[in-house]
Amino acid sequence: MVKRPRGTRDFSPEEMEKRRYIEDVIRKVSDSFGFREISTPTFERSELFIMRSGPEVVDQMYVFKDKGDRELALRPELTASVMRFFVEKLKNYPKPLKIYYLGPCFRYERPQKGRYREFFQYGAELVGGGVLDSDVEIINLAINVVRRLGIKSFQLRLGNIGILRKLLEGSSDVNESLKFITTEKFDDLSGRLAADGLSDKEDTILTLAKLKGPDVLQQVKGIVGDDAPEEVEYLETLGESLKGYVTDDIQFEPAMVRGLDYYTGMVFEIDCWELGAERQICGGGSYSLADVLGGEAIFSTGFAFGLDRMVLVLEEEEFSFPGKAVEVYVIPIGEAMRENARGVLKTLRENGISSDMDLIGRGPSKNLDYANSMGAKKVVFVGEDEWSKSSVSIKDMETGEQKDVLLDQLVDVLSK
Ligand code: HAM
Repeated sequence: MVKRPRGTRDFSPEEMEKRRYIEDVIRKVSDSFGFREISTPTFERSELFIMRSGPEVVDQMYVFKDKGDRELALRPELTASVMRFFVEKLKNYPKPLKIYYLGPCFRYERPQKGRYREFFQYGAELVGGGVLDSDVEIINLAINVVRRLGIKSFQLRLGNIGILRKLLEGSSDVNESLKFITTEKFDDLSGRLAADGLSDKEDTILTLAKLKGPDVLQQVKGIVGDDAPEEVEYLETLGESLKGYVTDDIQFEPAMVRGLDYYTGMVFEIDCWELGAERQICGGGSYSLADVLGGEAIFSTGFAFGLDRMVLVLEEEEFSFPGKAVEVYVIPIGEAMRENARGVLKTLRENGISSDMDLIGRGPSKNLDYANSMGAKKVVFVGEDEWSKSSVSIKDMETGEQKDVLLDQLVDVLSK
């Protein structure tokens, strides 16, 4: 037997219904915010991601050569693809450009619950807007999606990578120094700062790395002082704009570093503690990519959710997903009625009533069991006696109530 590759999943009808529910909410909320959906290829030239994603993501990439000897990669994320699309085709759209996407991504990671090699992202990017308004709008969208999905317990964590970037100005490899900070390799950081002549910043950076909480910004100001005053102020202003409008519950993390190298300003993550190690359901921030990809520099900000983790949180919180079943199941009583039953089915479907019919030739009671197991709300029996009176019999599967209905009133009755 051929097994499916490690880190990939099959999705049953029940699982797909949960995913469809989430996708429907995502599309509704994104549309209502004025974002429009786009789609980009699942594989790209590998250099697109190598340019700015950073070593962590590049190490996890599925890279292969095609028959024309081109080096391609399965996309590990979509922001680089979206910005390639922007530079190639979308740059003349009216600004700000508000777009979103849903689709699979691929990273060669060690699989565990909530972490897969093929996983699905929903993301949004806002390009060419004013800095503060765009950052507020993008975080607002993310939080609204979380709320509208019905996720009860979550935490917004907010930072500004601009603070550390400013402190590390003059470093020979800013992104590597940032990585030492997130991975807490403080000896390596110390060595790097010394080699770059930036040892005087070490204390500030180390103190900053430990500061997290709803009320740390005054302390941050004291520590960072004149080294990055505008960046700290921006974080404060952004926090104020979000409070009362989006959420009051903000955990500030002035030294937050994300796993991708392209971020330049605001960075944020949304965590759901119920998920344990893989608790980050959303991550994003403002970044600079259009210029790296051959376009002009333009302010861009965005996020991506892990769709799989959204399912997991809702399951963890025992959310009751709306089920999807056919509404009506048609049962012919005897082979002679099969043709007539098909006619009834056709009418129901033509009138937009989701319906199904016996395809095996089971007896009425087995058919009822089947209709029940499929969650049908009503059953229509097409029997000889009723048919001779131009009617059929409807059974309500919830109440058990059964009544005859004239054929020309069937659609009306079932639509009610
Ligand atoms: P990211 O943090 O790498 O950011 O991924 C976004 C989300 O995808 C994560 O918060 C997580 O929920 C989910 N995710 C990542 N890896 C896996 C995995 N192996 N299995 C399951 N879920 C996973 C980005 O990708 C950026 N492009 C976000 C962005 C958009 N920044 C600006 N615009």
